[in-house]
Amino acid sequence: MKSYFPKDFLWGGATAANQVEGGSGIDGKGLSVSDVYLFDSSMPKERWTDQWHMMTHQQVAEAQDPNSTKYYPKRQGIDFYHHFKEDIRLFAEMGFKAYRMSIAWTRIFPKGDEVDPNEAGLAFYDAVFDECLKYGIEPVVSLSHYEMPLYLVTEYGGWPNRQVIDFYVRFAKTVIERYQKKVKYWVTFNEINCVKHHPYVSVGIIEEGHPNIEQEKYQGAHHQFVASAIVTDYCHRLIPDAKVGCMISYQLLTPYSCDPDDVQKTVESQRTSLFFSDVQARGYYPAYTNRMFEEKGVELVIEPGDLEVIRENPVDFVSFSYYMSSAVSAHPERLESAVGNLITGGIKNPYLPSSKWGWQIDPKGLRTALNQLYDRYQKPLFIAENGLGAEDVVNEDGTIDDFYRIDYLRQHIEQINEALHDGVEVFGYTAWGCIDIISASTSQMSKRYGFIYVDQDDEGNGTKKRIKKASFDWYKKVIASNGATL
Ligand code: BG6
Repeated sequence: MKSYFPKDFLWGGATAANQVEGGSGIDGKGLSVSDVYLFDSSMPKERWTDQWHMMTHQQVAEAQDPNSTKYYPKRQGIDFYHHFKEDIRLFAEMGFKAYRMSIAWTRIFPKGDEVDPNEAGLAFYDAVFDECLKYGIEPVVSLSHYEMPLYLVTEYGGWPNRQVIDFYVRFAKTVIERYQKKVKYWVTFNEINCVKHHPYVSVGIIEEGHPNIEQEKYQGAHHQFVASAIVTDYCHRLIPDAKVGCMISYQLLTPYSCDPDDVQKTVESQRTSLFFSDVQARGYYPAYTNRMFEEKGVELVIEPGDLEVIRENPVDFVSFSYYMSSAVSAHPERLESAVGNLITGGIKNPYLPSSKWGWQIDPKGLRTALNQLYDRYQKPLFIAENGLGAEDVVNEDGTIDDFYRIDYLRQHIEQINEALHDGVEVFGYTAWGCIDIISASTSQMSKRYGFIYVDQDDEGNGTKKRIKKASFDWYKKVIASNGATL
């Protein structure tokens, strides 16, 4: 295949602190919002994802009980806290040029409102970045990936409270200053548009019994826009060649039919998602916001100076996760809904297969997505997440034949190549969960994405031994050939 990948393309992998690190309570780390998700195999399967969408007050209270015997998988992760040297060495062996990761806010400011940072937490990331740089791996760092301090939720009510802007900015400035010589690529918020689907983990709202949830969600998002703009400004002043990006979950939406109602509904649905990158990439609230807020009953409280700071500090690049597409219908009641767990409740597209978790697989949709985003923003794009969650089996001889994952990734990388040929500017691709990690939405270990298997089960048992899968050697060749050998 003729490769259109630029020669300095950032091939790599991605993880998030709350899903890999473990080391809960060690060296001063505090509890984050993600540390509250349970895994309990006796729970009905639907509840595994329900808790992701809607956290309850009772669960948050129980999770803070020091005598609890329940299993909270994200407190254990895959113990990257103690294995990071081995893991990064394996990434280097595959030839990674970039590693997208996040800094756990609770390792630096355990409760979130402290004045002074925790030195042990800062020292940990110094060691992680040094290890990456030793192998020539560029860290791409998310400042907030579903891991705000739990204390800011229980004591301050999360992001709808304007004070949280100051806490985040203090955290962000602390780490940007500390790692200014080591990190050039920064992402202010992971999947900032997902507040629509899971407000607890995104902006720290416990939705249960809340009288006006839409108002709270968008007020929280507004505060994140302001915080992101302040941090973008700071980063640009401190690190002249820094690149700061926004990050959204991009689920390509297509009309279920050519019924004009389906087409219009698709435009509206797409806007409720792209609204977030519209604000961050263009620097202002788009005209359609007025009607959108009117229909949702939202009246934002905007302080003097907010719109100016947003306008003056748009992001340098747009990054996104891409796993699936979804069809949109104005009349979903007439259709058979998606089988399984199509996570955002979309309509099944009859032309596409789905993963075991109901995520609809659409490689060509990635080319469309890249073209749409580039047409819309004319800014460099970074594919921050893409991959297949699947159950892997270790053969008797210890090998793992994850050919289904290779197929998935190959088909998606082919489409990135097509988009590059179309003229889209894409500068990096970090495969999600490059090493097996705890699933964000279901808290399972058995929903695996990695090139590297981790011997650990859903209950947290196992040796944590790292084993290369078939996809490990395959991805190594992809990187070595700069996308020519797929
Ligand atoms: C993205 C998140 O939405 O999807 C990741 O940024 C997450 O944190 C990934 O892990 C895959 O989702 P899941 O639920 O399969 O882990």
